[in-house]
Amino acid sequence: MEKIIDENKQGENLILEHKDGNTRKLFIESYGCQMNFSDSEIVASILTKEGFNTTKNLEEADLVLVNTCSIRDKAEQTVRKRLEKYNAVKKNKNPKMKIGVLGCMAERLKSKFLEEEKMVDLVVGPDAYKDLPNLVSEVDEGRNAINVILSKDETYGDVAPVRLNSNGVTAFVSITRGCDNMCTFCVVPFTRGRERSREPQSIIEEIKDLVNKGFKEVTLLGQNVDSYLWYGGGLKKDFDKATDIQKATAVNFANLLDMCAKAQPKMRFRFSTSNPQDMTLDVIETMAKHRNICNYVHLPVQSGSNRILKEMNRLHTREDYFELIDNIRSIIPDVAISQDMIAGFPTETEEDHQDTLSLMQYVKYDFGFMFAYSERPGTLAGRKMEDDVPADVKQRRLNEIQALQRKHSHYRTQQNLGKTQEILIEKSSKKSDAHWMGRNSQNTVAVFPKEHYKVGDFVNVKITDCTSATLIGQAVGYSDNN
Ligand code: SAH
Ligand code: F3S
Repeated sequence: MEKIIDENKQGENLILEHKDGNTRKLFIESYGCQMNFSDSEIVASILTKEGFNTTKNLEEADLVLVNTCSIRDKAEQTVRKRLEKYNAVKKNKNPKMKIGVLGCMAERLKSKFLEEEKMVDLVVGPDAYKDLPNLVSEVDEGRNAINVILSKDETYGDVAPVRLNSNGVTAFVSITRGCDNMCTFCVVPFTRGRERSREPQSIIEEIKDLVNKGFKEVTLLGQNVDSYLWYGGGLKKDFDKATDIQKATAVNFANLLDMCAKAQPKMRFRFSTSNPQDMTLDVIETMAKHRNICNYVHLPVQSGSNRILKEMNRLHTREDYFELIDNIRSIIPDVAISQDMIAGFPTETEEDHQDTLSLMQYVKYDFGFMFAYSERPGTLAGRKMEDDVPADVKQRRLNEIQALQRKHSHYRTQQNLGKTQEILIEKSSKKSDAHWMGRNSQNTVAVFPKEHYKVGDFVNVKITDCTSATLIGQAVGYSDNN
């Protein structure tokens, strides 16, 4: 297996996997969460063994796969537009092209894709990627193929992912799949199934492989990482039925973080996503104990109103959340915290919205990912609650939330002025080829003149200026982490 570096339009390095002797061409595109991007690397790995090499050129592809997202209606509309594009290319330029849908939309719409849309040949849900060799053979023989069975134990722990679109420095490693939380607005439990954790040893092995390939930072991925629990395999909800030995030797998220940080002391670790109701202080204490675990927690809250939190089935109150934030800050004073927020959940009043703004005032998040509520068919809110906040009101509330977040982000970046921070260089800055772009431990982007430094170096950078999202500085030397 050889690595080919080529330059895409943005000038980023792309590492495509190329196996000599493979003759078929796979074009694979991903939308949605980090987990989807990580899953596409698993899919590419499985198909490399079936004679495919990846291509960036749609027109020459034998197989086009799109890894899809169902989280909001807009995400699904984006995918539909892409499918139309693929079909146009197929019709006009490449009639032998086969088209497949992977991921959450495949799981949500199942055979509807084949029956109604007539736009695809192949439909594969998030737990069925190991069946791809069989499914692709079916398609080769001229039949449509579908597998959307959700699994109790599939974690792809035994598949070594191919790193697609990689900068060669940062990588995702998935540790759990599915989600048991059943937030009433969320389609994920329906599209990705019940929660299960991946064997710790296979996680450690994957990270070791990344170290050998020169990677410097790993983000451990799960819908709800704090609820990671390995007790020999099986669903999280079946843990009660485990044997005494299994229970005594179980590995929770804090244990896993500790194992990863110790196994690879030079590797920098992040994780995403934390859920306030499942995050325990031993996770924060483990972060504080290890220099190589970043001081950053993505801690979505969705709303600042206790009434709305309850309607959303988020199993904590605003007061619980403040207590958690206070505890995190007392254990890790320079921690960065980010949010996900939903504006205009059904029944949300002006008062509820004000509660969201006041919660934000309390926390002053470093970053945020903010959305207007989008009703998802099949979810509890979709079935039982009327989407009754008018679109213009949702949008106005979202604008207010975003404006406040921008103000807080700027406040946070300003706190770094005059300080020297360790930055891991990821790539050239998008705005200037003479500058590197990297991140500090808190996940804030920093840019600085390249000088003699190179991608993958840990560099101490003195921060001299900032915008609301970016630190600007000057390197003062290598950090001792190289
Ligand atoms: N735990 C997951 C959450 C996945 S969804 C994770 O790993 O990130 C990501 C975010 O999308 C959620 O936190 C929520 O803010 C938003 N979201 C989910 N369903 C939504 C919906 N129906 N409408 C609007 N935003 C939604
Ligand atoms: Fe969705 Fe809530 Fe799980 S947002 S992914 S159901 S934690």
